[in-house]
Amino acid sequence: MSPFRVDLRSDTVTTPSPAMRDAMAKAEVGDAWYGDDPTVNRLQERAAEVTGTEAALFVATGTMANQIGLALHARGAGHLVACEAGAHVATTEVASSAVLSGIAYRTGSSAERGWMTAELARRLLEPDDAFDVEVVDLLAVENTVGSHAGSVMPAEELRAVRKVAEEAGVPIHLDGARIFNAAAATGLDVREWTSQVDTMMFCLSKGLGAPIGSVLCGPAELIREARRIWILFGGGWRQAGVLAAAGLVALEEGPGRLAEDHARARRLAEAIAEISPGAVDPRTVETNMVFVDTEATGLSVATAIERLGVEGVGAVPVAGRLRMVTHRDVDDAGIAYAIDAWRRVAGMGLRGS
Ligand SMILES: Cc1ncc(COP(=O)(O)O)c(C=O)c1O
Repeated sequence: MSPFRVDLRSDTVTTPSPAMRDAMAKAEVGDAWYGDDPTVNRLQERAAEVTGTEAALFVATGTMANQIGLALHARGAGHLVACEAGAHVATTEVASSAVLSGIAYRTGSSAERGWMTAELARRLLEPDDAFDVEVVDLLAVENTVGSHAGSVMPAEELRAVRKVAEEAGVPIHLDGARIFNAAAATGLDVREWTSQVDTMMFCLSKGLGAPIGSVLCGPAELIREARRIWILFGGGWRQAGVLAAAGLVALEEGPGRLAEDHARARRLAEAIAEISPGAVDPRTVETNMVFVDTEATGLSVATAIERLGVEGVGAVPVAGRLRMVTHRDVDDAGIAYAIDAWRRVAGMGLRGS
């Protein structure tokens, strides 16, 4: 059970819906290591279909999906993956990449809201004429961008990035942990992005609401090799159909519901902006994340989080701000409660207490 009445720490905190629990209880299972779990296979086929890719691999976490995806392209220790400086792979996963695949990063800051631009890609993929010792094996892009309040990388920008990468002969991996949020925010099909990359992953356990799991998608030949790396990394699980059953429900029911999360995040941001002018610009809330600059209330991020916690509202610090994320287990009443809690917490700040 969540320690908070309204848990806005992340969209990963959702618990399985009754439909998911029912599907899990009834799931037909086999041994996924041997490739004969029928529910896992159905999920993988469905994920490939939805993303317009040839094949898919169901894995435990988004980190594992990314790390297998990176390992597929990085040709050896000391080779580089290029990405935006705030990307999840180059921050939270930097040590995993180093230990598992010997990957180092070449990063640069985007002039846009954290997303990879053609201009940045060009800069990062520029050949090292002087020494020719740095080898960039892969360009990694992220959508939505977690370090920038879930901003959406426009599909046309990815097409431009693709051109730059193709000219440089470098493949692209998409960290699409929240790609369905990007689709919901723009009204576009996820294929607008997935068609422009070599491999991609998405998380079932975030906005889509499944308890556990992510999926790595790509060409059949690469996914065959991905299975080898998956086992190498200790990912080869067995009767995983129990989890894939929930994943299938998430994939069918999740995407259509995300617009509700986005509307609630926008409402929360608008209320906070009204209560604490300057703390958040609601126009920056494109999907399900609200990043709050607590200085506007005279409180540090840590103090504001602590006081919200006392009020029963869960939030976390990200990139020097206070982050709140909407998801399936937060309804309109929950948002109203969080707004009231913010009013009390911000009021304390102004009184200097
Ligand atoms: C953009 C992004 N990529 C990858 C991940 C990793 O997912 P997991 O926590 O399932 O390992 C996260 C997790 O928050 C994320 O935000």
